[in-house]
Amino acid sequence: MISLKNLTKVYGHGEQSLTVLDNLDVDVANGEILAIVGPSGAGKSTLAQCINLLERPTSGQVIVNGEDLAQLPERKLRVARRRIGTVFQSASLLSRRTAAENIALPLQYLGVTPAETKARVGELLERVGLSHRANHYPFELSGGQLQRVGIARALALRPAVLLSDEATSGLDPETTRSVVSLLRQLRDDLDLAVVFITHEMDTVLHVADSAARLENGRITEQGSLVDLLTDHDSALGRALQPHLSPAEPEAGSSLWHVTYDSRKVPSDWLQLVSAELGEPVALLAATIQSIDGTSTGNATVGLRAPAHLATAAFARHGLRAIPGELAIANAALDHSSDTRATEDLQWA
Ligand SMILES: Nc1ncnc2c1ncn2[C@@H]1O[C@H](COP(=O)(O)OP(=O)(O)O)[C@@H](O)[C@H]1O
Ligand SMILES: [Mg+2]
Repeated sequence: MISLKNLTKVYGHGEQSLTVLDNLDVDVANGEILAIVGPSGAGKSTLAQCINLLERPTSGQVIVNGEDLAQLPERKLRVARRRIGTVFQSASLLSRRTAAENIALPLQYLGVTPAETKARVGELLERVGLSHRANHYPFELSGGQLQRVGIARALALRPAVLLSDEATSGLDPETTRSVVSLLRQLRDDLDLAVVFITHEMDTVLHVADSAARLENGRITEQGSLVDLLTDHDSALGRALQPHLSPAEPEAGSSLWHVTYDSRKVPSDWLQLVSAELGEPVALLAATIQSIDGTSTGNATVGLRAPAHLATAAFARHGLRAIPGELAIANAALDHSSDTRATEDLQWA
C-alpha cells in the first residue's frame, strides 16, 4: 500500500520558484494498478521521483506500509527505498553486463552472497519469462525483453510498490500488451501496489484498475476504471474510450450514438433492442471492453424506429442513446469547454 498525502514539489526559490506538484492525494492498495496519465510537462516524472525519493518532496508524505518515507534521514532512506522498485522507459541496463548480471546489481550492492544472488536472479528471470536469455547482453535483447529485465531488476529487493514511468512508451502494441500482462501477473502473484505512469491513453484500459489524471501538477480526476468509463461527466472516462470511425448508416435510417450508462448492460443488447423495436439495429462501430467483468464502451448504430421508442428501448438496457446530429453537437460543446485537456491526454 502506498499513500501520497498533500504531496507538493516546488523547484527553485522565490520569484523563480515553480510548483510542479501541488498537494496531491493518491492511494494505491496492494494488488492494485493505478495509472497516472497526463500531458507532457504535467509533472509525471517528478511525481515518480518523489515516490521513489530520488527527489525529496517539498512537503507532504509518501507513506509505504504505514511509514512516511519523505521525512526519513538519508541513512534510513537508503534502506526504506528498497520498498519501491522502479522501471523506466528505456530499461537503462548496463551494456557490458548480461541480463542476469544486470538483475543481480541491486543484490550485489546490498552484499548478498553470490550463492543467494544466483538463486534469486534465477527466480526473477523465470518470473519474467527470460530464463533462456540469462546470459545475453542488452544489445542482443528485444525492446520487450529489455523491459522484462528492467522489471526483474526492480523486483530484486522484494519491493511492496512497483513504480513504472513510461515503461511501455514507444514499444509496439504487441510488446506493450505482453509487458502489461506481465505487470498484471506480478500484481496478482506478489500483491504489489503498482503505480503505472504513462502518456499513452490506449495502454491504460489494458493495464489499470484505476486511473488518475495529472494536469499542471494537480490530480484533476481519479477513480476506478469502471466508474470513470460509466460516468458521462468524466472527461478522463471519455478520453479513455478508444475512438470510433463509424460506417455510413443505410439510407432512411438515422444514426445514434450509444454509451454504456450502467454496470448491467446485457452483452446481447443489440439483439434485445432489435427485437423490441421489431426491426434490425445496425452496428456501425463499437468499442466495448470488459473491465473486471463489467462491460463499458460506446457504439454507433443505425435504425429506422421513431426516436422516442428507440431512446426508451436503449434506456431499458442501461444504454444512453443520443441521435446522430445531437451527438455531434454535444461533441462540439464538449470540445469548446475541454479541448485542451482531452486532446493533450490523447496525443501528448
Ligand atoms: N529538476 C528540475 N528543476 C526544475 N524544473 C523541473 C525539474 N524537473 C522537472 N522540472 C519541470 O517540471 C515540470 C514537469 O516535468 P516532468 O515531471 O518531467 O513532466 P512529465 O513527466 O509529465 O512530462 C516541467 O515544467 C519541467 O520543466
Ligand atoms: Mg515524464
